[in-house]
Amino acid sequence: MTRKLTPGKLVIASHNAGKVREIRALLEPYGIEPISAGDLGFPEPEETGTTFAENALLKAHASASAAGLPALADDSGLEVAALGGRPGVYTADWAERQWFEGANGRDWYMAMGKVEGLLAEQGPDVDRSARFVCTLALAWPDGHAELFEGRAEGRLTWPPRGALGFGYDPVFVPVGNILTYAEIDPAEKHAISHRADAFAKLVAGAF
Ligand code: IMP
Repeated sequence: MTRKLTPGKLVIASHNAGKVREIRALLEPYGIEPISAGDLGFPEPEETGTTFAENALLKAHASASAAGLPALADDSGLEVAALGGRPGVYTADWAERQWFEGANGRDWYMAMGKVEGLLAEQGPDVDRSARFVCTLALAWPDGHAELFEGRAEGRLTWPPRGALGFGYDPVFVPVGNILTYAEIDPAEKHAISHRADAFAKLVAGAF
């Protein structure tokens, strides 16, 4: 049975201000007081796992044991069917680029182009279906943890369209839609996304 989360402090095991803001808004109605791992001065653990679950657990356990409080972490990415699920846990890594000596950054157009290049190698009839996955790990200081996985099914389009959103949004068209995630109003995207699906499961299981 899922362990329940009681009202009180919860560490958000993320250093991404956008993610922390989104999670804070989602959990406040449940009497949860979120504090971010960044605000507590915790270092970011290296994501050495080979699955979303392993990486989410690694981050949640590190924060829970450092703070002596329950902690929530998320790990997400894009799985492309014709690429055997790649880039998967390496979704952000595919955007890593050295701009000039000593300065690294993320180039999302390069990453989307890489995915498209690999699809193009398989010819015009390639299966363009893809999904975003979001795995949430909720860990307690005694080592107990619960996992919640959300998915958003869709297909990849080319060229990229839209200026809203982030990451691979401009090439992802969710099922039942003709617009990409980067063309849909963000409030609508947040209602149908993989992260929304994972949070719905967390709210159903943990409260
Ligand atoms: P994480 O921060 O390690 O979970 O990185 C996951 C990566 O997946 C992000 O850097 C994004 O590139 C990508 N990603 C996850 N969710 C979305 C989304 O909703 N839209 C676009 N890209 C996403």
